[in-house]
Amino acid sequence: MVSNKNSYAIKGNIIYSTTPDQLVLIENGYAVCENGICGGAFAKLPEKYNGIQVKDYGDRLVIPGLVDLHMHAPQYGLRGFGMDLELLDWLNTYTFPEEEKYAKEEYAKKAYGMFTEELKKSPTTRACIFATIHRDATKILMDLLEKTKLRTMVGKVNMDRNAPEYLCESTEESAAQTLQWLKEMQGQYKYVEPILTPRFIPSCSDSLMKTLGEIQKSQHLPVQSHLSENEGEIAWVKELCPAAGFYGEAYEHAGLFGNGCKTVMAHCVSSVEEEIALIKRNGVYVAHCPQSNMNLSSGIAPIRKYLDEGLHVGLGSDLAGGSSMSMFRAMSDAIQVSKLYWRMWDQSASPLNVKEAFYLATKGGGEFFGKIGSFESGYEFDVLVIEDESIWHPQELGLLERLERVIYLGDADNIVEKIVAGEII
Ligand code: GUN
Ligand code: FE
Repeated sequence: MVSNKNSYAIKGNIIYSTTPDQLVLIENGYAVCENGICGGAFAKLPEKYNGIQVKDYGDRLVIPGLVDLHMHAPQYGLRGFGMDLELLDWLNTYTFPEEEKYAKEEYAKKAYGMFTEELKKSPTTRACIFATIHRDATKILMDLLEKTKLRTMVGKVNMDRNAPEYLCESTEESAAQTLQWLKEMQGQYKYVEPILTPRFIPSCSDSLMKTLGEIQKSQHLPVQSHLSENEGEIAWVKELCPAAGFYGEAYEHAGLFGNGCKTVMAHCVSSVEEEIALIKRNGVYVAHCPQSNMNLSSGIAPIRKYLDEGLHVGLGSDLAGGSSMSMFRAMSDAIQVSKLYWRMWDQSASPLNVKEAFYLATKGGGEFFGKIGSFESGYEFDVLVIEDESIWHPQELGLLERLERVIYLGDADNIVEKIVAGEII
């Protein structure tokens, strides 16, 4: 019999994915937490859990916490404006000048304070986060995130070329600052982990990439970056890296593209066939960021194809290429852009449905963090309890319809409880 204070059951309408097209719905069911790990989800509580504490949430929806595989914390202040340019001009005009401000501790504290507070209230329980090149400000961000008890991977950004002087490190400085940052943070955090973050190939020289590859190898760090987001960017990488047959190969040459190096690449809007094959072969995760891809007119990533190919795919807000950090919104955007892709571009690529979008935001992206994003036995117990009474409707609705309405109409205010690895936050 299981009964101790770190074990409990959540009672409510349980919803979780097992595969992209398999959604489990249990009306008035139970999801069990044993020391932070899910013991499974059940219609009736198994006998071995007799006497366990049951937190009864009535008619509310109980879903796994949502995973944001790609966001930029220092772009918080850019949300919702400056959407008139494409990627490279957007970076130069809006993004780099904003990121420069994080050289100042005072600004970093103020802006990252707002960012972490909003993230804590959001549906996100796990996130991969870019900071800036600034070591001190990155530390401020990590300190603030640690207090939220969310599980996050945070990267000090590396940039040693093609950036304004105020946001460009020398190759040696970039490597040295990264090593110093990694050293300083050792043993400091329980909930925040470091992730190597070369911004993208145009920002990082071959020599810096090689050094980062060596750091990755010696410290076994995960890696996050951008890949094949925009046609102008892709053409530029061809010029910058003539030895690479395609964009992804520039990361591969540095040993920073999966294959023993846990890697997540944002966008992959216009990946060529060889690149898709390498993503698959090396087990690289794709962070699909549909709202950003609309805002920056980047295009639509072929997510149906990626799912059919069996790639690892999750969703990202790409704050502030994406204006909203809500992963509810990321799910509805993913469905909507897939419909446009199908209608306008490829009638063989059927649109994503609600189940698939939900999978991407939970288990699909969650796998980057480990056994995350499901209520199958053995998964870490990340939970959102959601009230949807306030999203009015006059008629009776089934659980799947209610989930769909939360995805399209819900926001942070609909979250009544947020649990990460068994701990209420
Ligand atoms: N590629 C390089 N940097 C960035 C960034 O900050 N946002 C997006 N969307 N793409 C990038
Ligand atoms: Fe990004």
